[in-house]
Amino acid sequence: MTIAPTRPNDSLAGDLAAGTPWPTLTGRGTGHELTVDGIALIDIAQEYGTPVQVISEAEVRERSRAYRRAFAGCDVAYAAKAFLTSTMARWMMEEGLHLDVCSGGELALAAASGVPMERILLHGNAKTPQELATAHRWGVGRIVVDSRAEISQLAALGHSGDGHRRQKVLLRVLPGVVGHTHKSVDTGREDQQFGFSLASGAALEAVRRMMSHPELELAGLHCHIGSQISDLQAYVRAARAMVGLLVQIRDLTGIVLPELDLGGGHAVAYRAGDRELDPAPLAAALRSTVERECTEAAYPLPRLVIEPGRAIVARAGVTIYRVINVKRTSDGALFVAVDGGMSDNPRPALYDARYTVRLIGRVHSAPTERVTVVGRHCEAGDVLARDADLPGDIRPGDLLVMLCTGAYQHSMASNYNMVRRAPVVSVRDGRTELLVRRETEDDLMRRDVDEQPPRGLSRWSGRPIRRRTCWSAVRREIPCRRFR
Ligand code: LLP
Repeated sequence: MTIAPTRPNDSLAGDLAAGTPWPTLTGRGTGHELTVDGIALIDIAQEYGTPVQVISEAEVRERSRAYRRAFAGCDVAYAAKAFLTSTMARWMMEEGLHLDVCSGGELALAAASGVPMERILLHGNAKTPQELATAHRWGVGRIVVDSRAEISQLAALGHSGDGHRRQKVLLRVLPGVVGHTHKSVDTGREDQQFGFSLASGAALEAVRRMMSHPELELAGLHCHIGSQISDLQAYVRAARAMVGLLVQIRDLTGIVLPELDLGGGHAVAYRAGDRELDPAPLAAALRSTVERECTEAAYPLPRLVIEPGRAIVARAGVTIYRVINVKRTSDGALFVAVDGGMSDNPRPALYDARYTVRLIGRVHSAPTERVTVVGRHCEAGDVLARDADLPGDIRPGDLLVMLCTGAYQHSMASNYNMVRRAPVVSVRDGRTELLVRRETEDDLMRRDVDEQPPRGLSRWSGRPIRRRTCWSAVRREIPCRRFR
């Protein structure tokens, strides 16, 4: 379908003045079409189809730089779970960040992308013995130890990497801090499954246990109090508690731990008026808290590590959908159904996440209505945006763009209803680059290992099986690059 670039009357200027989280480089093209870093969103929809996730490379890089500036002298480890592709891993390395991974899959992708092992931290409250063994053999920089079983498993693996190095580990601690965020991601509280409790003495006991294993080098402590946290004071309380534990460990064991990792979780604004946590004030508050607490206890300043994920990538992303149908219910509510849904973005269903949605690509004059944007999946909970303000004349074929979808979208996408996962396209200086192609139906069937009938014939009818491969979607291989 060809869409003529028209002069849309949606108010970008009004949106920007209100703080609506468009990517920073959003503007207008020559035909007044909406662009991100010089590329019209409608052109991306036309070239790559919909739904499609778009990532502004410049925004990812600028946000990474903002973190490195604010946290100069600290290590900034990007939390790959927010969004990971080999290109993203390369951007992170080029920007001087480290990488926090939380599974064998993320670790394998990082390794295949050439991320140096010493710049990787491995997380997970249920790492499998295989994941631990691989990380250990590959010489991953830091393994964040989450349980007693892991301590003995890691120790049993002996020295790491080349066989001479002691495996560096951090100890994950539950600092008992409430993050005042969605309960599914409020992970610093005492009643959680992560790490060792500070209050109960389990963390201290784990430190003693580690000391009895010469194969392990306890480099420091880690905590992550949750995600989408906008309360600066929650981080200050966590930092204070963690320095308190460092001091206690020194006083009781004589060991001075050189590193303190305060995790990620910094809130971003999904809609105008949402609270977010800027890296600069956060860094200032964390530094001054740690410095003050350390000075008071005559403790040498630890090297700080932080692990932002969402804050690096969320706002760099938008997702374009096509409207498939529009329905008005008997009570007057307007449902707008699009060609994606909870399979490409489960966040509204999981966390009641709210987003901003805008119509792009055509002029409209109808008054704005409050509509519900729903997906294509077979359940009433498949809602992408419950309260979107869209023109009342919205119709099939229209394009919608959902803002601030760079984080926890591609990484949480599924094949529910055997829907093919959407591609990811980066934009930079007026050019697009395909980072992840759209799935094909062959991809969907690749893992299905039911015994094959005689080649190409249906077991039931004996007739040839129709298989469709969308070769136009298989555009190119992403080369694997080395950074050293
Ligand atoms: N470090 C650790 C140990 C983590 O568990 C996480 C996120 C992060 C860092 C990064 O947090 P961020 O800066 O991205 O908030 N699926 C949920 C988010 C789950 C986050 C889990 N851990 C969502 O879509 O909101």
